[in-house]
Amino acid sequence: MKFPILSVALLSISLASLTFAAESSAPIADINPPASATVAEGLEAFSRIFEVTSHPRCANCHVGEDNRPRWSGPSYAPFPPGQDWRYHGMNINAGDSRIGVETMPCSACHQTTPDLESKPHTPPHFGIDWQLAPAQFEWFGKSPSEICAQLKDPTRNGARDWQGLAHHLVDDAGHRGPVLWGWNPSGNREAAPYSLQQHVDDITIWGVAGQPCPAE
Ligand code: HEC
Ligand code: HEC
Repeated sequence: MKFPILSVALLSISLASLTFAAESSAPIADINPPASATVAEGLEAFSRIFEVTSHPRCANCHVGEDNRPRWSGPSYAPFPPGQDWRYHGMNINAGDSRIGVETMPCSACHQTTPDLESKPHTPPHFGIDWQLAPAQFEWFGKSPSEICAQLKDPTRNGARDWQGLAHHLVDDAGHRGPVLWGWNPSGNREAAPYSLQQHVDDITIWGVAGQPCPAE
């Protein structure tokens, strides 16, 4: 009786890869900068950019030099008193490598697979190797003006202008990486707000407006 079950499993795997192949051939979001945008429109777009970059699905990995991934967002409660986050359980530290080679590699639990679906409280995964963002790309606990300054500073954003940021978002999502996962996290995890397309549009509006930053 094992054989039919195996065939069903193989069939669903091949159907799933077909779907992934179809999805990766077309761009997953479009880059359509507006012809012009006012500073006010740029600031409004940035306030939505901040809601995304500070959201747990993005910020939990965009942490600084302590190399410690965070667990925040409703599905990760309860938290220590007076906090709305906690450090990754099991004392996980990504080290300077940001992938944990110094202690326990992230890949020991977070697989690399195009399948974004994971059950509640099991290690989430996506199509590229799971790792922390470089420490200069720090967003966790940062204010809107701090994240804005980082995003427009080529020494702290991987040498990207706003077009480069938009391309990074689309490329990463095309590899079924963290950017696509952030809007499709499954397992009862709260998705990042708005949508990938809206976020790419906001980056371009903010860019065309001259990358204005809020005062605080
Ligand atoms: C699992 C960890 C992880 C998560 C979750 C994650 N990122 Fe990242 N992010 C990275 C890594 C690693 C890089 C470095 C890649 C590079 O520069 O090529 C990066 C780089 C970036 C960059 C490049 C420039 C910069 O200033 O940071 C942007 C933009 C970005 N991520 C956006 C997002 C958004 C938006 C989300 C949520 C929807 C998100 N990331 C979630 C790991 C993550
Ligand atoms: C021993 C297994 C294990 C290892 C090793 C591990 N993780 Fe995790 N990680 C998990 C589990 C399980 C969850 C989800 C917990 C939950 O949902 O309650 C998780 C969740 C996360 C999250 C939160 C994602 C979200 O929903 O916002 C981040 C960020 C993260 N891990 C980063 C890392 C990094 C970076 C490494 C390597 C340095 C790593 N993890 C190594 C088991 C592991």
